[in-house]
Amino acid sequence: MVKMETETKDLVQMDKDHLWHAMHRYNEKDAPMMATEGFGSWFTDTKGDKYLDGVSGLWCLNLGHGRKEIAQAAYEQMIHLSYFPLTLSHKPAIELSAKISEHLKGSYTTFFTNSGSEANETAFKIARQYHSQNGNQGKYKFISRYRAYHGNTFGALSATAQANRRVKYDPAVPGFLHVPPPYSYRSPFGENVENSDLLAAEYIDQVINFEGSETVAGVILEPFISGGGVLIPSKEYLTRVSEICKKHDVLLIVDEVVSGFGRTGKMFGFMHSKGVQPDIVTMAKGLTSGYLPLGATAVNSRIYEKFKENGNLNHFRHVSTYGGHPASCAVALKNIEILENEKIVQRVSELSESTLSALFELTALDKVGEVRGVGFLYGIELVEGKKTKTPVSDEFMGKIIGACKEKGLIIGRNGDTVPGYGNVLIIAPPLSSTVEDLRFVIETVKSVLYELC
Ligand SMILES: Cc1ncc(COP(=O)(O)O)c(C=O)c1O
Repeated sequence: MVKMETETKDLVQMDKDHLWHAMHRYNEKDAPMMATEGFGSWFTDTKGDKYLDGVSGLWCLNLGHGRKEIAQAAYEQMIHLSYFPLTLSHKPAIELSAKISEHLKGSYTTFFTNSGSEANETAFKIARQYHSQNGNQGKYKFISRYRAYHGNTFGALSATAQANRRVKYDPAVPGFLHVPPPYSYRSPFGENVENSDLLAAEYIDQVINFEGSETVAGVILEPFISGGGVLIPSKEYLTRVSEICKKHDVLLIVDEVVSGFGRTGKMFGFMHSKGVQPDIVTMAKGLTSGYLPLGATAVNSRIYEKFKENGNLNHFRHVSTYGGHPASCAVALKNIEILENEKIVQRVSELSESTLSALFELTALDKVGEVRGVGFLYGIELVEGKKTKTPVSDEFMGKIIGACKEKGLIIGRNGDTVPGYGNVLIIAPPLSSTVEDLRFVIETVKSVLYELC
């Protein structure tokens, strides 16, 4: 025991000296929580305290910790064929690309990378090259929505319309435009406006007209804005955006990095809306349930056709050393097999309604402005009062999150996103969470909010 405590102390010091943490404000007195082991939706820290991970790591640990069959798939692949580049080919990547196409319910060809950011970067390059090879060299601009996050690399960050993620890193890449999100609670089109979401869709049409459709390459969006505050538009929103994109020959790029692979109660988030067949779908996170890094950019065959044409520089001149690593692809295949065999997506859909309605009871509190959610993705927007809708302070958000942690539940918030509006609590437990796990999440959040709001 003494040895373990000393070891932990040493590690904390080394951590302070050498490890740079994501999104972290350095604090001399406080070290970030260090996990030692995980089991299902739970993990233990160095003090031996148990926590339920109510945000699935970074929304990725969809099947929870400790799935031996996934580890086994990685192990077997690593000893069989440890590495092979996708300038050539290997079986796990071939099988995974076919599996992705099957689940997208269309004909898609997939380019593999290592992360969601890279998947989006890849999509932007494909879209520009596609238009160029289709005789529309001038189509280079991308439209995304305010509050959206699309990644940390420069292209993906330029599509990210969250001011606090960009301060001190701008100027961004030229050619990225931003439009209002579908957000009826704080509609940019005025209080109590009907059909606010559809107005947000029509706004995209207007921007394309103002810019000149001959200059616009694509619209990138998440079916449900996740990190930007869990915004859940009406189903018609995406259908309408898809029609607008078609009308202007603008590619619809759907970022399924968070919403893909069951998070929203469908295999892909866009499947909630009728008549939507994206031109490009980007994925990561739930593709491997976070067991190994992998990103994917699936391209509709209509677009891929243009890359089959002969001619110097008509092929996609893009390479990633580790993208589509055989072990990552083997892990993704096993992950999808489990999703299928255990009917995880259906289960999420079935359990989400009761979870959401239990959380919805919190709207009785004056400080709970809105409860939003789909599948296993929930947002609770906290305000000073229902009338003013003034966002609660960062300190208050910290207090709520801290109180949940005290009770053994980790939840998140939309931190460092929109200046002054980091007031949405985010809950996204692993998709494999048991009914008892979900009950624990609901009861903990409720007891904390009833006490502090
Ligand atoms: C919607 C969305 N797209 C893209 C990304 C970037 O993914 P990664 O962190 O794997 O680069 C994220 C990450 O949180 C995300 O939430």
